[in-house]
Amino acid sequence: MLLAFADERSLAEKLARELGCKLAFVAEHRFPDGELKLTLPSPLPDSVVVLRGLHQPNERLVQLLLTAKTARRLGAKRLALAAPYLAYMRQDIEFQPGEAISQRIVVGFLGELFERVVTIDPHLHRIASLDEVMPGSKGIALTAAPLLGQWISAQWSGSARPLLVGPDEEALQWVQAAGEVTGLEGFVCRKTRHGDRDVEVELPSVDITGREVVLIDDVASTGHTLVQAAQALRARGVAAIDVAVVHALFGGDALDRLAAAGVRHVWSTDAVPHSSNVVTVAPMLARAIADVL
Ligand code: R5P
Repeated sequence: MLLAFADERSLAEKLARELGCKLAFVAEHRFPDGELKLTLPSPLPDSVVVLRGLHQPNERLVQLLLTAKTARRLGAKRLALAAPYLAYMRQDIEFQPGEAISQRIVVGFLGELFERVVTIDPHLHRIASLDEVMPGSKGIALTAAPLLGQWISAQWSGSARPLLVGPDEEALQWVQAAGEVTGLEGFVCRKTRHGDRDVEVELPSVDITGREVVLIDDVASTGHTLVQAAQALRARGVAAIDVAVVHALFGGDALDRLAAAGVRHVWSTDAVPHSSNVVTVAPMLARAIADVL
C-alpha cells in the first residue's frame, strides 16, 4: 500500500499506478492549538510505502513521526519512506560553534522510523553517500538530472543545442549527468555565499556570446543563486536563458525575480509540486521502491 497526504495527490496517483498498488490517504485534523491528529487506514498490510516530500519540513517531520509509529501499531512490518525532497541536507557541518548539524539529526531520525528511505538528489555536498549519515544501506539516493537533460534536449530541434550551466561548483554532478544522456556540453560557475539572500556568482572565462543556455541545479530556494547566475550570463551576451531544477521550492517572489533577470522558461520535476513541473519522477521512484521492497 502507498500511503500519502492529500497535498501530494498528483504524484501519489502516478506512483501508485506505476507500483500497481493500492493508494490510501492519511486524514489530517488540526486542533485549534495547532496540534495535529492523523488517521490512517486500519488495518494495514505488511508492506507500506509512505510518500512525503520534505519541502516545508518542520510540520512534515512530525507527520512522519506520527504516521510511522501508528503504521507499525496497525500492522505494517516493512515501512519505506519515499521522500522525493529531503530537507535539512545543506546544514551538514557545524559552520559556527554550537550549530546543530541538521543533516545528521534529520536523516538519523528518518532512519529510525523507516527500514528504507528513497529520495532524489539529496544535497550531499561534503559526504559521498547517504550511508555516511544513515548507516546500513537504508538510504537510496536517485538522481533526476538525466530526466531533466532529456527534457531540455527535446526542447531544441535541428542543429541548435543549448549549453548547460551549473550556477556553482557543486552543480557539476547535475551538468555531467544531464550531459551524459544528451551529449550536451556545459560548465559550472563559482559561487560565494555571504548570507541566505546574498550570493555572488562568477562565470569562467569562456566565450558564450549568442549561445542559448540552460541553468541546471538540484534545488532553487530563494532563487538568488539562479538570479545572480542569469545576470552574469546576460552580461556575457547569451541569446536565451532557461532554468531547470530538480526541486522547485521557489519561495516568495523568486519566479518574478528570475523573469526580471531575463529567464525565459523555468522547468522542474514533480519531486516538489510546483507550477513549473514538467518532468515526472514517478517511474524512477517506483522502480527504486519496487527494488527495495
Ligand atoms: C546549494 O548549493 C544548492 O545547490 C542551491 O544552489 C541553493 O540551495 C539555492 O539556494 P537559493 O535559491 O536560495 O539561492
